[in-house]
Amino acid sequence: MKYDYLVVGSGLYGSIFAHEARSHGKKVLVIDKRSNIGGNVFTEVIEGIHVHRYGAHIFHTNNKKVWDYINQFAVFNRFTNAPIANYQGQLYSLPFNMYTFNKMWGVVTPEEAAKKIGEQKKIAVITEPKNLEEQAISLVGTDIYEKLIKGYTEKQWGRPCKELPSFIIKRLPVRFTFDNNYFNALYQGIPMGGYTKMVENLLDGIEVRLNTDYLVNKATLDAQADKVVYTGPIDAYFDYKYGYLEYRSLKFETELLDQPNYQGNAAVNYTDKETPWTRIIEHKWFEFGKDDNGNEVPKTVISREYSSEWKPGDEPYYPVNDEKNEKLYSVYKGLADAEDRVIFGGRLGEYKYYDMDAVITAALDVCVKELEA
Ligand code: FDA
Repeated sequence: MKYDYLVVGSGLYGSIFAHEARSHGKKVLVIDKRSNIGGNVFTEVIEGIHVHRYGAHIFHTNNKKVWDYINQFAVFNRFTNAPIANYQGQLYSLPFNMYTFNKMWGVVTPEEAAKKIGEQKKIAVITEPKNLEEQAISLVGTDIYEKLIKGYTEKQWGRPCKELPSFIIKRLPVRFTFDNNYFNALYQGIPMGGYTKMVENLLDGIEVRLNTDYLVNKATLDAQADKVVYTGPIDAYFDYKYGYLEYRSLKFETELLDQPNYQGNAAVNYTDKETPWTRIIEHKWFEFGKDDNGNEVPKTVISREYSSEWKPGDEPYYPVNDEKNEKLYSVYKGLADAEDRVIFGGRLGEYKYYDMDAVITAALDVCVKELEA
């Protein structure tokens, strides 16, 4: 065999596996059906700005081992996620904190804010929430729900909150402080020079073939490697023989604007139902408006993000982990377990939402089993 491993997919999972396999002296070929490496963390440079083509990616983790690992391949900047909510032109801080409560009710102290939320929860008298609307109101009261949750969530899921199950929102962090940092992570940032550069560093010295669809060339590719690490959709691997696993999809409308500053923040969520998009990302603010040489960028790039129904052929983004899809996944998982030459991994191979740090952990765990056994 020419290669020990054929890695299908150059996203984080595939690239980490490939890097580790090579470090263990294995011969590796990485293929991707896209024309670029990096999978969904891919960033492309437009006018000196790293544009997150498949949605905004902010690295955050509490796992020091993962943080130390990924820092071998990139230097991270000090970006912290502090999104803004735009409700019919009024701006609120997200997550819900003292800035939000002051803007919403004019309250000044944490005690006043807690009292206000408590009163609204009491009026709503919900003991056992039957749907997402009741769940949200029972956690944060009616005003925050109506202005900051309802419209956004309905756009995201394409259904009224009353028809969505309550388990989608397990908790809604409410902070009685002025902390605007969205994530409660110890480590956070954006790789300087872009995610694509970080993945390039992971794949340094490894043969990569782009525009190569494994499933179209399966027999030929299989014949070249002892084992396959497959990070594409698990149902596609089995030719959808038991049906399609469902996803929510996204559409992005990206525009280069001849102005230095469009919204003054990386992420603004549109929480009213009248605005068709869910949020606007202004990519330059992930890097404080500067290019790789530290110069101010005179233009800006924005992406309007729309949530959309997924149909076969669309880009899969968020798995719909309801009972029906989980059952179908377990059928495919049974078939996958019987393929002893193939490792299925990553968000599509395992039909699972993974944050970047979690996908790194999963890939490293499999490396230990596979390469150090
Ligand atoms: P990924 O999808 O990246 O890679 C799979 C690769 O396989 C793709 O390149 C694909 O082209 C290739 N492939 C598929 N089928 C193939 C075939 N038949 N032949 C060849 N190649 C094939 N996480 C986080 O920590 N912070 C964040 O802010 C975000 N933000 C975010 C926004 C959005 C909109 C989404 C959907 C997700 C996030 N994430 C995130 C999660 C993050 O995107 C995720 O953890 C990683 O992209 C997962 O990497 P994988 O390698 O598993 O999949």
